[in-house]
Amino acid sequence: MNKISQVLRDAHRYEENAEKMIAEEDRPAFHLSARTGWLNDPNGFSYYNGKYHLFYQYHPYDSHWGPMHWGHAVSMDLLHWEYYPAALAPDEVYDKDGCFSGSAVVLDDGSHLLMYTGVVKEQQSDGTVREVQTQCLAVGDGTDYEKYAKNPVIDSKVLPEGCSRYDFRDPKIWRKKDGTYCCVVGNRSDDKSGQILLFSSRDGFTWNYENVLISNRNRFGKMWECPDFFELDGKWVLLTSPMDMLPSGFEYHNGNNTLCLIGDFDEEQNIFNDQHNQSIDYGIDFYAPQTIVTPDGRRVMIGWMQNWDTCSFRTQHMSWFGQMSLPRELSIKNGRLYQNPIKELEQMRAGQVGYKNVSVAGTVCLDGIRGRKVDMEIAIAPEDGKEIYRKFAVRFAQNEQFYTSLSFHPGDSILKIDRKFSGSRRAIIHQRRSQVNDDRGKLKLRIILDRFSAEVFVNDGEQVLTSVLYTEQSADGISFLGDGVVKMDIVKYDLSEC
Ligand code: FRU
Repeated sequence: MNKISQVLRDAHRYEENAEKMIAEEDRPAFHLSARTGWLNDPNGFSYYNGKYHLFYQYHPYDSHWGPMHWGHAVSMDLLHWEYYPAALAPDEVYDKDGCFSGSAVVLDDGSHLLMYTGVVKEQQSDGTVREVQTQCLAVGDGTDYEKYAKNPVIDSKVLPEGCSRYDFRDPKIWRKKDGTYCCVVGNRSDDKSGQILLFSSRDGFTWNYENVLISNRNRFGKMWECPDFFELDGKWVLLTSPMDMLPSGFEYHNGNNTLCLIGDFDEEQNIFNDQHNQSIDYGIDFYAPQTIVTPDGRRVMIGWMQNWDTCSFRTQHMSWFGQMSLPRELSIKNGRLYQNPIKELEQMRAGQVGYKNVSVAGTVCLDGIRGRKVDMEIAIAPEDGKEIYRKFAVRFAQNEQFYTSLSFHPGDSILKIDRKFSGSRRAIIHQRRSQVNDDRGKLKLRIILDRFSAEVFVNDGEQVLTSVLYTEQSADGISFLGDGVVKMDIVKYDLSEC
């Protein structure tokens, strides 16, 4: 198509060669990982010309964060990914220090529109350097993208007083039923916390500032990154990733978090009024999620399966870092956000092994229950007529030395994910506790393992706990532990790669 810059050409050449150096079994099997180098946020998640497209924050040359490019992968089922050449590189005056997160929509003429944040470093009078952030566009055909000649299309000139020009990023674009384009952008306000700004456009290229959709007012952390705003099951949902949070009971933890606000959208005033708040993920590694609507109408979310504060937890010998979460189908039930693995995952199931009414007292291993690429459904309950058990645990990625565990105490309804003994040699967070809704010791768990991660769906999607783990792959044992007697039903499938 168009002429591409030397910076992007270099990235293409580099990634094509470097990808060949990574053996397939050194990557997750069905979670998207960096083609080479570093990956963070999902970007430009969209369905275009019969395929799912997922772009990502990408530094091909190093497995640590650096000048941001957009990596690109496509899929027919959101589980098997094919890498495409990097779509964007920091190669223009208005984005020379990075092409930060953004999103995609389809234009009326059938082309693919990417909207992203261009970053430029600016020297301050006191000698320090800050990054100015503006919103930019690129148009393409699903493979090649050309940056718009009039970039940036939204900059600080249109912002009202008090809106930061330094923290102004991550546009999420969508189209209203009448074809109008809208986008929400994360911004820092006067009170130093976050706010979400709303913009609109008739053609996708000329943008008008509308108003502040919602203000954080220092309620949930500080700056709000990577907003996504959509209608779901009759309510409106804002997903965002707050920085610098303080813990609040078992709901939010310190540092970078994910936040889901559910409420009503006053479409006359363009104001979102939140009525309910919750974490999106209650585990350790989940950030910056983005959603799409699939052709059959499902709202599906993918997040970066990582936390900024735990990035020092990595394997030294791998030249990729960063993976995406499973795509999760969203719904609202009982006023809460529910998430379940996309139904396409069931097509990967093979080798079913099941047991009913197993009495778990002490340590129990079951024939055929092992593996590092598995989908496992567990239902636990107190044994009929017996006193309620004190603790249940399942250990996985286990060998003589290592394991990761999920343990549940019905006494206080606390479910804990713990990777302390997974082989990590870093002084970072390894455990997270979450309060769950058990019915007097009755609880349902669905655990998905994919070589370097565990995602735990509690009570049919009421809560999810996600964690990465780098235990050697030969550690594929799974065992169960009961303090007291736990009655357990279990069905386990291998997740095959074909
Ligand atoms: C979130 C984030 C975004 C930014 C990007 C930079 O993880 O900080 O706000 O656009 O990462 O890579």
